[in-house]
Amino acid sequence: MSEPTKKKIAVLVSGTGTNLQAIIDAIKSGSLNNTEISIVISNKKDAYALKRAEAEGIKNVFVNPKDFSNNLDFDKKLIEIINNYGVDLVVLAGYTKILTKVFVDSFPNKIINIHPALLPDFGGKGMYGSKVHEAVLKSGIKESGCTVHFVTNEVDNGPIIFQTKVPILEGDTVDSLSKRILKEEHKSLVEGIKKCFSLHVI
Ligand code: GAR
Repeated sequence: MSEPTKKKIAVLVSGTGTNLQAIIDAIKSGSLNNTEISIVISNKKDAYALKRAEAEGIKNVFVNPKDFSNNLDFDKKLIEIINNYGVDLVVLAGYTKILTKVFVDSFPNKIINIHPALLPDFGGKGMYGSKVHEAVLKSGIKESGCTVHFVTNEVDNGPIIFQTKVPILEGDTVDSLSKRILKEEHKSLVEGIKKCFSLHVI
């Protein structure tokens, strides 16, 4: 019997790429089956995520925002690259650049993002990485977590696919909280991707 066609993913990154690594590891272990990463794209030259892709033999590219006169032209380049691979899903894994409407509208219901808090709280423009955890700790709430959601034109406001809660402990710092949440992000992102494919919305 022939193998089912693999679902193709494009992963957009800006940083360390531990979430990218989680997807790679899940594919390698078979927990995320019939899936392949077609291309990893970074808007940051020094993103360690690019090295992770390279080490796994996954095609990867740095697209320099400075080579484009505006965000729209930059995003059009990304659309062109992604379309070359005919991907089923675009995964934002620590991608910190806000997408233009043209990009979002090019892949309807096909873009997902991982956010390090329980959306709809602590999201929106400028809320990424440690800034999210700082705001969470400042608020005094007792619980945070992470959210995998569809990307729409409203930043961090698309339909939620998967959410995991993480307790905030006495004496937590941005560092301790972000590490505890990041561990859960890795599992949640993989579960989110599985859920997307099993929902047959993709
Ligand atoms: C993750 O915590 C991710 O949730 C966050 O950036 C980090 C990237 O880590 N993304 C956002 O804050 C987006 N709003 P990684 O590069 O090790 O995957």
